[in-house]
Formats: sequence, C-alpha cells, structure tokens
Amino acid sequence: MSNLHVVDHPLAQHLLTQLRNKHTPPEVFRSLTRKLTTILAIEATRSLSVESVAVETPLEETQGTVLSTRLVVVPILRAGLGMLEAVVDLYPDVSVGYIGMERDHATAVANSYYLKLPPVEGRTVLLIDPMLATGGSVDQALAAIRSRGAEAMILVCIVAAPEGVERITKHHPDVPIYAAALDRELNPAKYILPGIGDFGDRLYGT
Ligand code: PRP
Ligand code: URA
Repeated sequence: MSNLHVVDHPLAQHLLTQLRNKHTPPEVFRSLTRKLTTILAIEATRSLSVESVAVETPLEETQGTVLSTRLVVVPILRAGLGMLEAVVDLYPDVSVGYIGMERDHATAVANSYYLKLPPVEGRTVLLIDPMLATGGSVDQALAAIRSRGAEAMILVCIVAAPEGVERITKHHPDVPIYAAALDRELNPAKYILPGIGDFGDRLYGT
C-alpha cells in the first residue's frame, strides 16, 4: 500500500517521454518541465477546499465557487525550481518557500543547505521536486515543513522510484505523492532507472 498517484494523462506521458530523451536540450527541457508540472499540479490539487460565492454574469446572478485553501508551494532547490513557475501561474496567490537539499555524490545522502519558509501553520503545502529517488531529500523537507505546523502536505514529482515511494509512505503516511511515472529501480549510484538522468544538470545545462 502506497500513497502514490501516477498521472497517466496521455499528454503527461507524451511530455515525460520527451524529458527522458537524452537529446532534449535544456531550453526544451525547461519548457517540457513547466508543461508537465501544470498537469501534475492540477491533479495534485483536486481536493483543495472551495467556498460558494455569488457571481454576476452579463445576464444574471448565479452561484460559483472560489478556492478557500491557503496554499504554500516549496520547491526543493535546485531542480524543483524548474517546476515552480507552473504552480505560481496556476495559483497566483500562493506563498513560496525554498528548501535547498543536495545529495552527496559518493553516498547519495541529502544535506540541507538552505531553508526559508513562509508561515505554514494551518496551510496546505505543495512540495515540488522532480526526482524521488531514495526519498532522502523529500523526507527531510517534509519533516521540516511538518515541524512548523502545516495542516496538509502534498508531494508533486515527475518520476518516482519504488525506494523513495516506500520511504515517504512509511515516514509520511498522510502525504499523497503525485508523479508522472513510477520507474523500475535505482542504480548503484542511486539514480533512477530508466529515469531522466540528473534533472538539475539537464534543466540548467551544467
Ligand atoms: C536531486 C533531485 C532531488 C534529489 C532526489 O537533487 O532534484 O532533490 O536528487 O534524490 P533522493 O530522493 O535520493 O534524495 P540533487 O541532490 O542532485 O541536487 P540539485 O537539484 O541541486 O541538482
Ligand atoms: N536525482 C536526479 O536528478 N536524478 C536521479 O535519477 C536521482 C536523483
């Protein structure tokens, strides 16, 4: 039993395939990331609460709904930044926080090097990070957000590995995970197979 929701919309899978392609250059990679994140974020926020309001059309008054959830989005630096613009475009009122995490190249253990969060108490936090590999980065980020009193947390990633899904489901059973794919496994260096490669490097051409 896991909290993973794989978004299998045909357009999401089409965009993912182009992201996987090693010949996709950074400028196209960034645009694909934004488009795919839009689809994933819409699906991930399906359960946001709304309230009823009256609205006047040019012809008459009717009832509509507006969002009532106070949303915070937190990208994990660096690669999560590639997903941020899509979320801010969808939810212009969102507050943005940042968590910097970097995996040690030898051990693949993530270390936190930056944290700046807006108030999250009583709010829903969307954590965005394209690759859920061992789950170490997301695990620490969710713990930091939880300790500050977030009411709910939702994880949006692009590709998830079984190890990461298992870890997050075990340590954060209340957090749903939205991804475009559940890939096969991690290689000995803890990269996802078949994966996308080093997402941050591909995003920024490094
Ligand atoms: C990548 C990715 C995730 C992390 C996933 O970041 O963006 O944050 O690895 O791995 P994990 O699930 O095993 O923790 P990386 O550490 O390479 O940093 P970067 O985004 O700055 O490139
Ligand atoms: N981080 C990445 O960027 N890619 C992986 O496959 C695993 C971690």
